[in-house]
Amino acid sequence: MQAIILGTSLRSIIADGQFGESIDTPLGTTSSSLVETDIFGPRVLLLARHGKDGGTYAHKVNYRANMWALKDCGVNEVLATATVGGISLQLNVGDIVIPDQIIDYTFGRDHTYYGDLPIKHYDFTYPFTERLREILIQSRQDRETSEVLNRGTYGCTQGPRLETGAEVTRLKQDGCELVGMTLMPEASLARELEMEYAAVCLVVNAAAGLTPSEIDLKYAHTVASSSIEKLRGLLGRAVQLLN
Ligand code: HPA
Repeated sequence: MQAIILGTSLRSIIADGQFGESIDTPLGTTSSSLVETDIFGPRVLLLARHGKDGGTYAHKVNYRANMWALKDCGVNEVLATATVGGISLQLNVGDIVIPDQIIDYTFGRDHTYYGDLPIKHYDFTYPFTERLREILIQSRQDRETSEVLNRGTYGCTQGPRLETGAEVTRLKQDGCELVGMTLMPEASLARELEMEYAAVCLVVNAAAGLTPSEIDLKYAHTVASSSIEKLRGLLGRAVQLLN
């Protein structure tokens, strides 16, 4: 069973009337209800990460409840969408990147189930499931031969503010090619619950300090809205391939 976690750009594919009540779990309440849909063909569950009205900021999302509820509903494959700032100069606004690595800069988020479950260490060398990444790569129809889009190190920052120019310089020195606020601890919680996980990232702006002007958030929003069909098509093909 697959689930798609919808970030800022794709939340609107769920109509208001489709949302039910958020789900109570032992770890608290999910961001939104789990919406069952066949818009991609096979039945999948959709979860709006930032809530049905989009008002839950990345640092306030109850990632533990979200992932727990998905597991509880029998989900074993999770596709996540997220908007990002591009750090690599090879990335253009509007590009879709399937990241293969993560550096976690977040703090103070409830990031593990251990403490509630018996503690154990687990391997996280490859934070995304390669099989799901391959399916997402096969499902893309844009610049598909371009290797820059089929991998990338995602730096996860705390938000809600965007980064300073100096922070982006540091992220770049660390090897980050894109920056966002949401894939951690989502990816590691998926691993703790033994669900496969991969992400589709939409570049909506150049990261702070990489262009002469400040980040135009209104324009980033426009890019997100105008990329909905492209993302939806990619996810639809991925779901078909998974079934
Ligand atoms: N930084 C962090 N998160 C983001 C950005 C960014 O520049 N753009 C979209 N999400």
